Amino acid sequence: MTEQQLRELFESLTLEEKIGQLLQLAPFFFKENIIGEITGPMEELGITNEDISRAGSVLGIGGAKEMKEIQSAYLERSEKKIPLVFMADIIHGYRTIFPIPLGLGCTWDMESAHKMARVSAMEASAGGVHVTFSPMVDLVRDARWGRVMESTGEDPYLNAQFARALVEGYQGDGIHKDGNIAACAKHFAAYGAVESGREYNTVDVSEFILRDQYFPSFKAAVDAGVKLIMTAFNTVLGIPASGNKWLLRDVLRKEWGFKGVVISDYGAVKELIAHGYAKDERDAAKKALEAGVDIEMMSSTYPNHLKDLIENGDLDVQLLDEAVWRILTLKNEIGLFENPYKGASEELEKRLILCDAHRQAAREVAQKSLVLLKNEHVLPLDPESKEQIAIIGPFADTGAILGGWSWHGRFEESVTLADGIRERIGKERVEAYQTPFMLSEEEIEQAVALAQKADVVILAIGESHEWSGEGGSRAFLTLPGNQEQLAEKIFELNKKTVVVLFNGRPLEIRELVHQAPAVLEAWFPGTEGGHAISDILFGDVAPEGRLSISIPYTVGQCPIYYNAFNTGRPYVPNNRFTTHYIDAPNDPLYPFGYGLTYTTFAYSDAKLSRSILRKGETIELSVTVKNTGTRAATETVQLYIRDVVGTVVRPIKELKGFQKVHLAPNETCRVRFTIDETMLRYVNHDCQYVSDPGTFIAMVGPNSKELIQLPFELVE
Ligand code: BGC
Repeated sequence: MTEQQLRELFESLTLEEKIGQLLQLAPFFFKENIIGEITGPMEELGITNEDISRAGSVLGIGGAKEMKEIQSAYLERSEKKIPLVFMADIIHGYRTIFPIPLGLGCTWDMESAHKMARVSAMEASAGGVHVTFSPMVDLVRDARWGRVMESTGEDPYLNAQFARALVEGYQGDGIHKDGNIAACAKHFAAYGAVESGREYNTVDVSEFILRDQYFPSFKAAVDAGVKLIMTAFNTVLGIPASGNKWLLRDVLRKEWGFKGVVISDYGAVKELIAHGYAKDERDAAKKALEAGVDIEMMSSTYPNHLKDLIENGDLDVQLLDEAVWRILTLKNEIGLFENPYKGASEELEKRLILCDAHRQAAREVAQKSLVLLKNEHVLPLDPESKEQIAIIGPFADTGAILGGWSWHGRFEESVTLADGIRERIGKERVEAYQTPFMLSEEEIEQAVALAQKADVVILAIGESHEWSGEGGSRAFLTLPGNQEQLAEKIFELNKKTVVVLFNGRPLEIRELVHQAPAVLEAWFPGTEGGHAISDILFGDVAPEGRLSISIPYTVGQCPIYYNAFNTGRPYVPNNRFTTHYIDAPNDPLYPFGYGLTYTTFAYSDAKLSRSILRKGETIELSVTVKNTGTRAATETVQLYIRDVVGTVVRPIKELKGFQKVHLAPNETCRVRFTIDETMLRYVNHDCQYVSDPGTFIAMVGPNSKELIQLPFELVE
């Protein structure tokens, strides 16, 4: 439709029809048998059939067939025949499930992110989805929060890279084309900073920290052309995000120039009341629209109150018009006026979903997401040996390795760990014992007996996918049930034992790691998980995952992150009055950026091309990296910088760049990073983006802890 035609359509809408565009409902509201009678959920929302026949969008969809049925029934009944836009949470795959976003974060690989988003978009588009509620670009620092599984990690720079890659991957060469879908970055903003890691809790971060650390990934998504932004449930500077005019209008629209649609999170507009920010639903509707929420997801303050607010002069109709225009523009960009069934195709669904190419993509991304935490000469296992392998634990032979946001994914379609291993080395050498998380005495005995007979034991343990994700906060980070007891009994046998961990968050694993000869962090690896893990265990592929989140030594350290401030009393051993715990170290068990592989790398001859940097000029940091082991592998060379003195305090180090290099045994390469003044900027107390002349320390190495330091000066 031309803009002129769209304008004409817009002008023809009644007030009620305009308000309807702002309402988003779940598919069941639209089902034919529901239209015509008031049902429970409708009563709960206080909405009528007329409201449904004017609604603008749908949340969640079961596939092409359902989409077509709903759209055609809707269009038949709706007077102005404005197609519904279908939105859904396609977070780490549609039916072909990829590793959870935290695992994706550990790939440090933008090609992987792009690949995942492309496959997701193609499958979802065939299933009738136009918009995905992804990427979730929240910065996370607290493993207690269940939604760490949905984030790419604790670093603003890395998260921003992923935000860009995912948005570009989903939206492809235009959201009007089949196979591409619009992206929605969420949850704006600072949802990851919920106090004590408790879901939906209060957030209180200063404006300069928001801007310096929590905003960059959202800004990157906006710069990449993301079409929608979703508000967070939490407060931002004392005002709930879904009613926060400063956040949604001043920052997002005015400063960043975002022109797309803002959608509330699920029920978040009504929740302004519980927050104590709105006195009733009418007030919530007014505050949310004034703040700039265009679509209200799954609450009904807009259909129930906007008309009255506008007719009584309590709300400027212009605000409604702007919101409606943005929604119609999105629909037009998707091409829904030309084809309301855009993308949806049962034939394509059959052809694309779980096709070989998509499975292969999921396998490759999963391989890269696995992080080898420890390896005392156990891995890789020899596929040609005669060794008998026992796979034991709650993840030994289950398809439940998809992770929390995979509602189209099916366990029976995923490759279990045991299947992956059987396929690689033959059934005869493998025995799998799938256990519960809480084992009876008898079950432990059975596990021990099985391990006793084997030469190699793979302990497949962790926490269920239901223990992370939304509503999945934990106060303990230990392994659920009595898995630790199981592990101890197995370790006592002194077999070659490999722990493979399945989890949606860093767990408290220091005892386990202490005793286990080898530990592989698998997160939730998705549909091809069993293949990918087996590829790594048997050395067909060398591990290359690097932690994008610190693994705490104990839950008491949370929140813990590498890019912390120094404090006035940095830790000095044996000095009580320096920052530390009496009963635990300050450092995490494993730092950000950490990960082993099947070879070793040596760093030498690190140099800066000059020790003085002037604005507008660059200096080069170069370092020689050598593969000093016996097999080819990929190293992720990391660049960090510290601003020694700032007008506000600065983190002890911040990731500013990284490069992956693949090296054969004995191969050497010179890795080069360019440093310029823009990389040294930060948000000061006046919320300006500035750099300070003075001393900086560039650091290069394999993770955020083992770094070679190179000081330089920034001069005016
Ligand atoms: C979650 C969002 C999600 C939405 C729709 C909410 O509860 O916080 O991340 O996109 O539901 O399913």
